[in-house]
Order: sequence, then structure tokens, then C-alpha cells
Amino acid sequence: SAYEGKDYKYSLDVLPQEYPMFGAQDMRSPALEFEYEDGRYDMCNMRYKSHKIIQGKPDIEGLPHIYENSSGEFTTLIITVGDDISGVSVELYYSISETMPIICRHSRVLSGKTAVYLTNAARASIDFSDSDFKYMHLHGAWIREKHIETAEVKKGFQGIESRRGASSPNENPFMAIMRKDAGEDFGEVYGFSLVYSGNFKMLLEAETYGTMRFQAGVNPHNFKWKLNKGEQFITPELVMVYSENGLGEMSRTFHRLYRRNLCRGIWRDKVRPILINNWEATYFDFNEDKLINICKKASELGIELFVLDDGWFGKRNNDKSSLGDWFVNTDKLPGSLKGLSEKVDKLGMSFGLWVEPEMISEDSDLFRKHPDWALRIQGREMHEGRNQYVLDMGRDDVVAYLTDVFTAVLGSADIKYIKWDMNRNISDANSAALPPNRQGEVMHRYILGVYKLMENLVSTFPNILFEGCSGGAGRNDPGILYYMPQNWGSDNTDAVERMYIQYGAGMVYPSSTICAHVSDVPNHQVGRTTPMKLRSEVAMSAVMGYEFDLSKLTDDECYDISEQIKQYKRIRSIVCFGDLYRLINPFENRSASWMYVSEDKTKAVVFYYNKLAKPNSEIRRLKLKGLDEGKTYIVDNKEYTGRTLMNFGLYLPEYEKDFESRAWEIEEKK
Ligand code: DGJ
Repeated sequence: SAYEGKDYKYSLDVLPQEYPMFGAQDMRSPALEFEYEDGRYDMCNMRYKSHKIIQGKPDIEGLPHIYENSSGEFTTLIITVGDDISGVSVELYYSISETMPIICRHSRVLSGKTAVYLTNAARASIDFSDSDFKYMHLHGAWIREKHIETAEVKKGFQGIESRRGASSPNENPFMAIMRKDAGEDFGEVYGFSLVYSGNFKMLLEAETYGTMRFQAGVNPHNFKWKLNKGEQFITPELVMVYSENGLGEMSRTFHRLYRRNLCRGIWRDKVRPILINNWEATYFDFNEDKLINICKKASELGIELFVLDDGWFGKRNNDKSSLGDWFVNTDKLPGSLKGLSEKVDKLGMSFGLWVEPEMISEDSDLFRKHPDWALRIQGREMHEGRNQYVLDMGRDDVVAYLTDVFTAVLGSADIKYIKWDMNRNISDANSAALPPNRQGEVMHRYILGVYKLMENLVSTFPNILFEGCSGGAGRNDPGILYYMPQNWGSDNTDAVERMYIQYGAGMVYPSSTICAHVSDVPNHQVGRTTPMKLRSEVAMSAVMGYEFDLSKLTDDECYDISEQIKQYKRIRSIVCFGDLYRLINPFENRSASWMYVSEDKTKAVVFYYNKLAKPNSEIRRLKLKGLDEGKTYIVDNKEYTGRTLMNFGLYLPEYEKDFESRAWEIEEKK
């Protein structure tokens, strides 16, 4: 130890450890902890055993992960460490990309001579030699997701976690560790993003002797995993991005990687259809006529997809019943889903559907038949969240049942899109299918079961566009993106609130994965009235849709919306697949701005949004980024060089009004 050794610099408590263990006098946080069946704790002395380097990137069974599109994209180093006494060993995987400054890592813990209980789920651990950093994370709540929080690293512990059963709206599984002078375009940034949708923990430990340890993985809270002889435990993948040019470059690296090496399926590289969702238009109060009226107007306006939200099944006329009874309510929809989808199809639009597979209402036939399928602590009262219980997704019979039921639902009509919701925190996390000594496995097994069900359905229906949702963005994380290439950005559809949420989401997530809807005013979440132009230009900066009763629009509003839809169709490939450059941070300014530049730098779209007007304000210019200095571009029918646009910029309106906005389309002069 530091006291016993002659030279503090060579103490285990100070030296960087690749896979730190507790008990051999490194007093910092360990990567792995376990105990034996009789409750005995052991120190586990992990030593290097062997290593190999392989071409490519192996799959991670049962867990979402970065994959390679063609051979030669990744190279993987596998280091095996082991403890001779217990026999426990760990394979540490590190994959590097040929084109991006990233490392993806995960590990496999292999059982030892006897069964052991893992109590700390083998976190990825990185030792920095100093703690002269600040860190940033995406904090929030339901309808206030992904607000940027930055703080200086202080001595001692700090970090983020979720104990809510999902990655949660409260903390996203992302952290950026930045040098104190680093910002949007300058300075050293280490970005960490965990490809996992359950309880996670990311911790920072700025330690007595000046070192700093970062760790990320499954949250050890309420976690205890029995590893029988011959079994392995696989940890979720941590994606690490390095940028020496600030947060902007870090985000662009995450976007490129997540767009091409995490999202899968035929929708991955396609622009997404403009949709109309009936939730804020009707809530539970709809029938086929009402829906078709909305669809008729939607089709006239150029909208491409109709999404039927919550309330189409069982006797669900409010949120108090029927989750689990996935049978069409023919009072509301006499022609069933097939009849409705055919009518929508005749209007020239596709049909999409909302589902919430993981949940069960107390008032449901499913609960009456299988009360033991819900998570509950035996002998205790069960706790509802949004009037519903949670299915025990760790059970194979539950996953098999849901696979059958949803295979039938998805096959019952020409369904082109699914919105997969999940609307509560998970409590009462005990399973009737597991013995008492294995209840610590429930939360991780839950997520593994969710992934299994998602894999079953996305592979059976490869043409369906799936969108993840969780009471807005409560499970908006990289794990879900492996199954569903887009996520509902937030239940908050107010344009001003969306500036913060979408700016925060863009730190990690590509715009092709962030869904944004134009909704009614006064806004249903915050009561704010903003112009249609602002609402649509905010939605246009991601995957745009609509969510209000279009059948009530005036002719002028219809004209405006049809023009906006034409504009979005022109720009959506740049928005979804271009490079993001952030120009004005809404968390620090009265306005917000960001832009997308096509990969070949021939086209760009710039969005500028004002919050509240500043009277008699300074003359302001918006300096663009990411263009080609030498190219000549056309903006508002005028010619500018890329150099001028980036160094001098575009004038912003002199007399701004509240909620004013602009969307500039920029194209290289031919
Ligand atoms: C929460 C979602 O985020 C909403 O968009 C809507 O689908 C409701 N659930 C329906 O219950």
C-alpha cells in the first residue's frame, strides 16, 4: 500500500489498473466483485493470462452491440485475465475502428471452480492519471429529457445511475469527460455511451493521490447474479469516443457510428415517412370515422403514414385497463385493424400502430389468468405506475407468449410501423419463477427478455419501421437503437422545450433517430402558444411528424403545413444523414441554432430559433460551420463563399419577435 511501499508511485492504489480488483490494496472502486455460495467474500486476484488480436468484431450474444458492415472495419484485442484460487477468469474485449477514434469494450466473466454470485457486474474501468476535468451528462425527467448538466470533477465520488428498470429520462447512459477548457469546437473530450437499456451506473472517482477512475456498467444496486460452474456473464458494451476538437466532433463520431454500425434493418439508411399520430388529437376518445377524417386531411397535405396510438384494444377507454389484452376493440374499429389499414391505404398512406408489450393492467384477462406473470414481491402489496403492473420479462414463457400475440397482431393487417411504448418505472422487482437467492437477477433478466422479444419481432417483420418510446424518451438509449432505428424524443411537444431536448439528444444520438412532432397550441404539456412556423421548423430538424386534429385546420393553416411538408421532403435526407454542427446553445442563450451539412459538403440546412425577443438588441450574425471554405454556396438567392459563411456569417433578423425562426437551405453553386 501507499504506507507500506517504499515509493508511493508504485502502489496498487495509484497505478493504473486495467481490470481492478478489491482486496489487494487498490482501495478504489473494483471492476468485479463476487462471493461464494456460502456467503464468503473473496478478493479475486486477476492476473494477465493471455491475449490475442483478431480481425473483425465478434457478436455479443443476447445484447445489443456495435457490428461491422464489412470485414476490415474493426480489429479486436481480447485479453484474458484470471484468478488461480477461485478459478474465475474474464475475457476483456476491445474493438477499434479503422476509420473512427473509438474503442468498444465489453467483457465475459467465466465461472470458476464452484458457483459464485456476482455482486458487482464487471464494469468497464478506465484510470486517468489526473482529475483535472469537468464532466457532462444528460439529466432530466419525463417531459424534460436530456438537459445538459456540466460540473467540475471534484475530489471524491460523483456519477450518474438509473434504478428505474430502464435507462430512464432522469439520466441517459452517457457521460463526456472534458478538459476544463474544452467546449463545442475545442479541447479534449472523452465520450462514454453504454449500449444498455436497464439499470446502469457510471461513476467517477477522483482519488486522494490525484488519479481518477471512470467506470460504467450494470448498476450493482439490487444486483446479484448466480454464475454456476460452466456459465458466463456478459457485460453490456461501452462505446468510448475520443475527440481533440470538442463536443461537436465527439457527437459527429457517435452519430456516424450509431447510424451505420448500431441501427440495423432496411430503414437504417432510408429517410423516414412523415407521420400523423392521433394521440394528442383524440387521446382514447376515437372511432373509425374520427380517425379517417384526420387521415383524409393528412393525405391531402402530403403526410405519408398514419399511426394509431393507445386505446385500440381490449376495453381501453382510459389508462386503467386492458394492457395485456391485445385484441382489437371492434366497437371503436368495426373493421378491425385490417379494415382500418385498408382505408388508410386507399388514401395513399401507410398504417402504423402503438403497442406496449411489457405491461399488464390489473383489469385485464391476462392478469386474471396469469397473476404470477407480473413482477411482485411475495406477501407485499403490488405497486402500480400509470395504473399498470410490469410483466416479468425475464421469464421465457412470458416472452414466448408475447412473441405469439404480437406476431398475430403485426400480421393481422398491412402494418408498416410500430411504436413500442413502455410507461412506468419498474418496482416490485421479484419474479415468481426464480428462487429467493436469484431475485437479484430480475432487473438484468428483464432487459435481456425485452431484447429477446424485440429481436423476435424485428426479425419476423423486417419491413416494419419500429420506433422505441417510453413515456416519451424514458428508454432512449443505444441499446434500443440496435432493434429500432428511431425513438420518440419526448412527450413534450412544445417547440421551445424541444429546443433543449433535441439539442441535448444530439450530443449522442443521430437526428435520424430522434422523432419530433408538430402539435396543437396552447401546447398540452406547458400551455405555451407558439407559431406554426416555429413548431414545424423545430420538428423539421429531426424526424418530423404531426400530432393534432388536422380535420380542424383553417385553409391558411393547411396551406402553410403543405408547404412545410414539401420543404421537409426536400431537406430530410440532409437532416437525417448529414453532419450536425451546433451553433447556438439554448441552455446558455435566448436562442438556439444548429445545422446539418451533407457528407460531400454540397448542401446544408441551418435552423435558427428565437425564444424571447430582446428589444433593441445588438446586430447579430450567425457564423456557420462545417462547409467547404473554397466552395461557393447559394443562400436566399445570393452567392457566398463557404469562407464568408463561416467567418462572417449570415445576418440574423434585427427586430426579432418572440418565437421567430428561420430554416435556410444552402446549396453549392453549380
Ligand atoms: C406515452 C407516449 O410517449 C405517448 O406518445 C403516447 O403514446 C402515450 N404513452 C399513450 O399511452
